[in-house]
Amino acid sequence: MRPFVLLIASVAALGGLLFGYDTGVISGAVLFITRDFHLSTALQAFTVSIVLLGAIVGSAASGAIADRIGRRRTLLAAGAIFGVGALFSAFAPSIGVLLGARLVVGVAIGFSSVVAPLYISEVAPPGVRGALVSLYQFAITIGILAAFLLDYALAASGAWRWMLGLAIVPSLILIAGMLPLPESPRYLFKIGRDDDARDELRRIGGEVVVGDEERSIRASLSDKQGGFAALFAPSARAALVVGVTLAVLQQVTGINTVIYYGPRIFQLAGISSAQASILATAAVGVVNVLLTLVAIFYVDGVGRKPLLYAGCAGMGVSLGVLALAFAQPELHGSLAGIALGATMLYVGSFAYSLGPIVWLLISEIFPLQARGLGMSICTLANWTANFIVSQFFLTMLERLGRPLTFGIYAVLCAVTIAFVARSVPETKREMLEEIRVSA
Ligand code: BGC
Repeated sequence: MRPFVLLIASVAALGGLLFGYDTGVISGAVLFITRDFHLSTALQAFTVSIVLLGAIVGSAASGAIADRIGRRRTLLAAGAIFGVGALFSAFAPSIGVLLGARLVVGVAIGFSSVVAPLYISEVAPPGVRGALVSLYQFAITIGILAAFLLDYALAASGAWRWMLGLAIVPSLILIAGMLPLPESPRYLFKIGRDDDARDELRRIGGEVVVGDEERSIRASLSDKQGGFAALFAPSARAALVVGVTLAVLQQVTGINTVIYYGPRIFQLAGISSAQASILATAAVGVVNVLLTLVAIFYVDGVGRKPLLYAGCAGMGVSLGVLALAFAQPELHGSLAGIALGATMLYVGSFAYSLGPIVWLLISEIFPLQARGLGMSICTLANWTANFIVSQFFLTMLERLGRPLTFGIYAVLCAVTIAFVARSVPETKREMLEEIRVSA
């Protein structure tokens, strides 16, 4: 692989870093925001979740924007919006301004969660596309871990403005990094800038691939329909069903109950000191980062589907263990250890499967004419499902109890395996234009 391609993917992946950081940072910051602005419980919950609402809005809008102004400029816009959001959060004089700023940050997260994987996927040579898009998930996990560690480090001083404001640093790097980078060659062909597109293909893949790639990209553009008409053409409709289902399954199998409520789960399992449960959550964050490397190294060789099977099986088993353990009162003494082990296995299994591979697949399965909008709708479904699961998790625990709550997530892992077996195509090493989803 050319270093240039790695550079492109790494800069775009900063969008993922900001996504991870900004979704993770609020859990620690909200304690001190509550203190300074005297928030009610409801307002506290809203301060946490408003970023998800922003992401819903941003992901809905970004597909059409990326089709109109291009992938590169949309990512630049995301960087700028992240920066503005971070500044206003850091200097917010009132809770109203803070909520507005967090909504803006959410919009940027929505933008980058559509366009970063889309751009990387369109630029990457087929044989390393999986690894490069997984780099984006790797950046998300580093962002989550960094947020967590910073929250921990700044907790003593209660410096929530720093926690939220520091996101300005990666957003400036994202902008500076994107400025000299090229537009996606596929997008350039789509808008008829063929010479520029050919130059970019050459810069990315070398002389040999240009002919082949150009031919198949052009063939895929022979269908003149764009926008929603392209999305509802039979070939894209099947992709839409598969993409939206995968995006929802990534969330309803419960990942963010652990990412957003980790310390809470550990406390329920009997890790009594706040310090220890925070530390346990940090350990889970490290597992999340490290196991993403498995996807980076194997997703192009072993393939997408085997990793999905292995990962979802691991997630299902660990959730099942957690459900059973919570159902046995006599386990009380050893519950903490079991919960910690099961949670690590669960997050580790997600990290090399549903985490990166869902973003990868939804960036691969749409025909070029429908890709921006298609990805946008899948990502919108992902954020909506995320919002619903994280809003109702605590209520589920209260109403259904712990065994049933985790049991439901375990069953949904089995549903995911069946769905992957039936409907998801293996896309490793295929050129984007060769990928087809059948109904
Ligand atoms: C998911 C996020 C999740 C993160 C955890 C991402 O792929 O979309 O919702 O918080 O992985 O690492």
